[in-house]
Amino acid sequence: MSVRVHFILEDLEAEAPEGIGLAEVAEAVGADITFGCRTGSCGTCRIRVSNGLSACSAPDAEERDFLASLDAPNDQRLACRVKLNGDVAIEYLGI
Ligand code: FES
Repeated sequence: MSVRVHFILEDLEAEAPEGIGLAEVAEAVGADITFGCRTGSCGTCRIRVSNGLSACSAPDAEERDFLASLDAPNDQRLACRVKLNGDVAIEYLGI
């Protein structure tokens, strides 16, 4: 199975194997997402999942706590922590 990713701001579409990390897809297609720590602690990779939130791996407690500290709504995630199980559309926000 493959998944489709729409990077809304850049109007880029990508197809990738199910279970892949969003960061890997973003880098492969040159999407404009800045990554820093890649461990979920800096927030530079924050995104809004505009479509397909349920297709993203669930956030762990660490990611939930970090996003809560930013008062981020539930549709926001850290791109470095997301694995894809279906089609999504995302927008880069940053910290
Ligand atoms: S790169 Fe630092 S939180 Fe994702």
